[in-house]
Amino acid sequence: MRFNFIISTFCFLTIVKIAQSATCYYTIDLIGYSCRLMANTDAEPINLVITGNHVFPKDDQDVVNIRSSDSKIEFFPSSMLGKFPNLKYLTLNKVSMTRINTQLLYCQNLQKINLFINGIYNISSGAFESCINLLELDLGRNSLNSIETESFKGLDKLELLFLDSNDIREIRVGDLNGFRNLRRLQLSGNKISNINSGAFDSLSELEHLYLGENEITSIDSSLFSSLRNLITFSVASNQLTKIEALTFENLLKLENLYLTDNKLTSLHDNTFTGLDNLAVLQIVANDIDSLSSFVFENLTRLVNLELTNNKITRLESETFWNLVNLFRLEINSNLIDFIHPEAFSTFTRLDGLWLEDNKLQNLEFLKTDAMKTVTSLVLEDNLINDLPMDTFNSFVRARTFHLDFNQIKEVRSSAFGALPYLTYLHVENNQIEVIENKFIENIPNLSIIFASNNTCINEILRNITYEMDLLEDCLSSAPVFTAQSFITITSSFVISLWSFMKL
Ligand SMILES: *[C@@H]1O[C@H](CO)[C@@H](O)[C@H](O)[C@H]1NC(C)=O
Ligand SMILES: *[C@@H]1O[C@H](CO)[C@@H](O)[C@H](O)[C@H]1NC(C)=O
Ligand SMILES: *[C@@H]1O[C@H](CO)[C@@H](O)[C@H](O)[C@H]1NC(C)=O
Ligand SMILES: *[C@@H]1O[C@H](CO)[C@@H](O)[C@H](O)[C@H]1NC(C)=O
Ligand SMILES: *[C@@H]1O[C@H](CO)[C@@H](O)[C@H](O)[C@H]1NC(C)=O
Repeated sequence: MRFNFIISTFCFLTIVKIAQSATCYYTIDLIGYSCRLMANTDAEPINLVITGNHVFPKDDQDVVNIRSSDSKIEFFPSSMLGKFPNLKYLTLNKVSMTRINTQLLYCQNLQKINLFINGIYNISSGAFESCINLLELDLGRNSLNSIETESFKGLDKLELLFLDSNDIREIRVGDLNGFRNLRRLQLSGNKISNINSGAFDSLSELEHLYLGENEITSIDSSLFSSLRNLITFSVASNQLTKIEALTFENLLKLENLYLTDNKLTSLHDNTFTGLDNLAVLQIVANDIDSLSSFVFENLTRLVNLELTNNKITRLESETFWNLVNLFRLEINSNLIDFIHPEAFSTFTRLDGLWLEDNKLQNLEFLKTDAMKTVTSLVLEDNLINDLPMDTFNSFVRARTFHLDFNQIKEVRSSAFGALPYLTYLHVENNQIEVIENKFIENIPNLSIIFASNNTCINEILRNITYEMDLLEDCLSSAPVFTAQSFITITSSFVISLWSFMKL
């Protein structure tokens, strides 16, 4: 059995065929030397001989961090920890390790072990038992098929546990009992279909729980009864068909809830009851067809609401009334053909409104003071055929309007008030016959109108980006512009007649 640890100052030697290189650091980022581990066994040798020269005046005591990746170390080099008694961080990525079959020795000073991307499927009982100060353990992208309490015995102080992309199928009561101080638990990308009631009962300190990309079909409130400190919960990309009322009732500190990519068809009025601190709610890509007036009733701190890609048909008056802190609202790619004129009237700081790819025709709901903070309005790909008087008057902060891919026939100045910040106007792919030039007078900063593929644009001009001084030609040779002239336009004004740019 051979195991040599050759150390040379900042140099990197290739000596043998089966060689494992590692980089050693005296502080978290001050490189001490490159070292090379060599072994041709799959078990740790009994008498490990490690030699090497340090940068003067450093020695083994000074090494705090060792990293190795893309090499081959089939066993966990546990006795290495004895040579470097002050080692705090150990990273062995992509080194083809499949088992941890001994108890790690001299582990008491280690704070972080990273074994990301290996084939580890078996960790022997008590392997980490002497790692009493370990705070972080990364076992992501390995092949574990269960969480064995015996394997993780003694990790009382562990705060971060990464088990993403393994083959774990269920979480049983007791599996996580050893992790009393866990703050972050990542279990995304496993095959979890079953979480026993009470499985998370020991995790009273947990703040972030990721269960995305599993096969979970239901969650119930009993799972959360002890998770009083939870801030983030993700169950995105699972098979949830419904969520019972009051499921999240105990999660008073929850700020981020990710329910995207499930099979939810409706939301109970009390689904989100208790989430008084929720800031981000993502329910993208489900099958929700309606929203009741009460479902978001107490989410007064909500900042981002994402409902893209559902089957919602109507937005009633009161649904969003208490969302006074909403900053982004995304309900694009639904089937919305009606938005109550009062639906958005209580927002106080909305910045972005995404409604593209719906069936909207009537824009009465935009005529509210609550639009005065919006900087982006996205309405492309709807059924809008008319822009009535005063439609956009409230958008005094807007920079970008997307009205492309509708059926608009006229752009009249009466629809736009004084919009001092509006810079980009997209009206391409409509049926515009008339652009009333006067409307630009009140929009001093408008610099580009995207107007390709409209009725008024004649064939010859369809390809061209037109600069200000050519615009008059455009108007005279294309009489379908009813405007007399565009004389008052600022010098940076450009009509883009052919552009796929999205601003
Ligand atoms: C790990 O390996 C040991 C010894 O081969 C075996 O007894 C144990 O059941 C295995 N544990 C798991 C979780 O596969
Ligand atoms: C909102 O809070 C009030 C007061 O606590 C409560 O009566 C009501 O049921 C809550 N509504 C929802 C939908 O949770
Ligand atoms: C208009 O644009 C100019 C130049 O980009 C900028 O200095 C000015 O602040 C803008 N005005 C508004 C109201 O955005
Ligand atoms: C022009 O508009 C028509 C219908 O409005 C659409 O089908 C076509 O794809 C558009 N062409 C381009 C180049 O965008
Ligand atoms: C657009 O320009 C290309 C090449 O410059 C030309 O071949 C094409 O005929 C033009 N299309 C139109 C509609 O003018």
